[in-house]
Amino acid sequence: MTKRLIFLGPPGSGKGTQAQKLSEHHQIPHVSTGDILREAVAQQTSLGKEAKDYMDKGELVPDTLILNLIQDRLSHDDAANGWILDGFPRNVNQAAFLEELLIKLNQNADCVLNLEVPDDVLVERLLARQRKDDNEETIRRRLEVYHHNAVPVIDFYHQKQTLKTIDGNQEMEQVTKSLSEAVS
Ligand code: AP5
Repeated sequence: MTKRLIFLGPPGSGKGTQAQKLSEHHQIPHVSTGDILREAVAQQTSLGKEAKDYMDKGELVPDTLILNLIQDRLSHDDAANGWILDGFPRNVNQAAFLEELLIKLNQNADCVLNLEVPDDVLVERLLARQRKDDNEETIRRRLEVYHHNAVPVIDFYHQKQTLKTIDGNQEMEQVTKSLSEAVS
């Protein structure tokens, strides 16, 4: 059965961790815009060179860099039977673009999963992880950017009745269980 899932949630809420588990379980690609961008930065591609400063500062990369990337990725053969989007859409413009793209691809998102975790827990998790953008200043900015954009995106999906909110402030296995129940 196809599964097309969108993961929403603040930095550190466990989107990447949980998307990877569900992707393995359902044998569908885990499409993380953050991972794609970090790979581009590491490879020093033109995308990576343009994205790097934004990422280092905790700002969103301009939509112009992201939209084509998503269109290409979801058009791959391996995404025909499902996918998990992690880190996209990040704002209403991206959400509206995705709606139109899915119509073109004759696909529907089955479920939008919104992981909720309090900010103080997020900061603690991210400081412990120590990715390049996991320093206190950048984390604070990533959280501000997230909170600024999240409400309209959540409203967008709430109106479509595809949104399910999951408590991400639980043991990892318990979060996986809650997500699996939500998508079954
Ligand atoms: P992105 O890579 O998407 O980063 P993020 O949203 O900041 O998310 P994180 O990877 O920090 O957190 P996560 O929710 O995936 O949590 P994780 O599972 O890793 O984006 C990075 C940058 O790229 C952005 O700032 C932006 O510049 C750019 N970008 C990306 N997409 C974009 C877009 N669409 N448009 C524009 N710009 C874009 O877990 C975090 C830590 O917590 C881990 O150490 C994990 O082990 C731990 N953890 C997870 N779950 C639990 C749990 N239940 N209990 C305890 N610890 C846990």
